[in-house]
Amino acid sequence: MNLVRLFCLILVAGALPALCAAQEHPAQPHTHAAGQALSNPVEAVRESVVKGRQLYVFECRQCHGNRGKGDGDMSHAGGVPSDFTDAVWQHGETDGELFLVIRDGVTADMQGYEGQIPEDDIWHLVNYIKSLTRR
Ligand code: HEC
Repeated sequence: MNLVRLFCLILVAGALPALCAAQEHPAQPHTHAAGQALSNPVEAVRESVVKGRQLYVFECRQCHGNRGKGDGDMSHAGGVPSDFTDAVWQHGETDGELFLVIRDGVTADMQGYEGQIPEDDIWHLVNYIKSLTRR
């Protein structure tokens, strides 16, 4: 084995764990003061959750999965979406923080919906997503 080949092997072996970790690492919480200051104006009553579910099916299911588990068909296109049904996922994010993620987006995969989904509907989506961990 020549030195160049040995060097390449070491490089690949060293990079592998980092690559795998990047793939499996769950999304980080999106905490920010602006979101924490926002309070949800839409009460999480059944009608709101149902409305949120309807929007979710059209706009979000392809990545976030049928039941919000982060296993939609497009979920591996880029980042790995969180499992909304996992209580640990909630990261303690407030309704307002989730609202800002959906309105403003966070990554190229999770783009903002400002101008596409009215703000009231975004709150319905927040109420739906929050309802998933309670099941
Ligand atoms: C093209 C795929 C895609 C679509 C469509 C999509 N998302 Fe996402 N979403 C992602 C990915 C990937 C992440 C993880 C981004 C990160 O935090 O790094 C994410 C993150 C999120 C988060 C933050 C999760 C956390 O851990 O804080 C919320 C909330 C969210 N999405 C809601 C929605 C809603 C609601 C819709 C529909 C209106 C939607 N997403 C549509 C891919 C998508």
